[in-house]
Amino acid sequence: MSHTAELEYTPAVAAATLPIYEHVKSVIPEFEWPVHAPYIEAINRLKRERNAVILAHNYMTPEIFHGVADIVGDSLALARKAAETEADVIVLAGVHFMAETAKLMSPEKTVLMPDMAAGCSLAASITGADVRLLREKYPGVPVVTYVNTSAEVKAESDICMTSGNAVKIVESLGVDRVICLPDQYLSRYIASQTDVEVIYWEGSCEVHERFTGQELRDYREQFSDIVIVAHPECPEDVLKEADFVGSTAKMINYVGEAQPKRVLLVTECSMSDNVAVEYPNIDFVRPCNLCPHMKRITLPKILAALTELSPAVEIDPEIAERARVSVERMLTIG
Ligand code: 13P
Ligand code: SF4
Repeated sequence: MSHTAELEYTPAVAAATLPIYEHVKSVIPEFEWPVHAPYIEAINRLKRERNAVILAHNYMTPEIFHGVADIVGDSLALARKAAETEADVIVLAGVHFMAETAKLMSPEKTVLMPDMAAGCSLAASITGADVRLLREKYPGVPVVTYVNTSAEVKAESDICMTSGNAVKIVESLGVDRVICLPDQYLSRYIASQTDVEVIYWEGSCEVHERFTGQELRDYREQFSDIVIVAHPECPEDVLKEADFVGSTAKMINYVGEAQPKRVLLVTECSMSDNVAVEYPNIDFVRPCNLCPHMKRITLPKILAALTELSPAVEIDPEIAERARVSVERMLTIG
């Protein structure tokens, strides 16, 4: 299937994508639109032909997030929506562990990952063998695993969590001690919110660990009215400076409800663009830490994946069966 003709910025493409451009023009310069628009038009058309749905994480760039995504959200929302969708094909505009989770939730569907190399420093920090060793060291202590892990690690775990439900999941187990994997900072944050003792792994997110408390204090000095909203993958000294801590979806909800005059979202940079589109009245201060894995996902790669129905995520059935139990347990709790 050739898309050569469709990739020109014709008057028809300009007209078809005008409402989308009107929505995003505060964050996408006009000279960039002729590059994105033909892909947006082609993807949205092909999506219908394929009965496909595009699930996009909050860290996707605005032309993906606002241009082609059907469902957007944090890791928890994407896992839930992957389980509910009636489409034949899911395109996961996010990173590999998110596509694996979607495949676990919808094993009969084709789950496309536009770039298989879109990984995650947290997922890369731990293996199934590491989890088995931890279980030997702490017999009987439940293993609560962040969704930012491989299916193999989920398969060795008792239950999954996301940054949106971590404390609730830990407390639901009714035990005094848990092992939380693999994000040391999320684990420390959980420990600060509960009486349950948390044993943690030394993994970290390469994006959130770059923020510092000093940086935030400097912003407060510069802008006395700034509201700081942080993700729990950030180090403790960063979270100490925050007015609110939560998953990406909770951060967005907080901004929508509080309507601060000026806000700093201490997380991956594209999210500020995506939220700023909805709230032109709010001034977003943007220290720009980008996730190199998320940024591998582009409109041309999404179009290629939909065209070729490849690359598709496959998981060893024995691992998938056990990993699915951990994700499903999480989804029944919340
Ligand atoms: P959430 O969107 O679930 O908060 O996760 C953030 C993140 O870093 C995903 O990779
Ligand atoms: Fe992983 Fe951090 Fe990138 Fe999320 S932002 S995918 S946690 S490296």
